[in-house]
Amino acid sequence: MHQIEWHDSHSVGVPSIDEQHKRLVALTNRLFLAIMDETGETALGDVLDELADYAVYHFTHEEGLLHLHGYPDELLTEHRAEHAALTDQVHEYIERYREDPACLDLSVYVFLRDWTTEHMSRSDSKYSEFLQARAAE
Ligand SMILES: [Fe+2]
Repeated sequence: MHQIEWHDSHSVGVPSIDEQHKRLVALTNRLFLAIMDETGETALGDVLDELADYAVYHFTHEEGLLHLHGYPDELLTEHRAEHAALTDQVHEYIERYREDPACLDLSVYVFLRDWTTEHMSRSDSKYSEFLQARAAE
């Protein structure tokens, strides 16, 4: 089990989005460390809250750019649905954590790690060329 490493293949070629993705990766990695640290239950709650807030901030930015540059409705709706599902899932983890701080284990990290890396390499890479061409206009 290890942390996520940023690779150039994760880049979508849009600097503001890449920076935000790096921050999301860093937060997900902090979650890993907080879960591993058995005395770190308070830290875990803080990281989860920060992750939830930052994910919403980032998704709003990304969806806003796609909308601004005329990304096709069908693709944008699909993309928004993925973001919404992740946001709901993180809020569910936060609720679970509030009921029982000891209940979150590495499966939470594994889920977020896989979601983040899959989403960047599959869903976000789909808009990469589109957005690079439009954003440069
Ligand atoms: Fe996305």
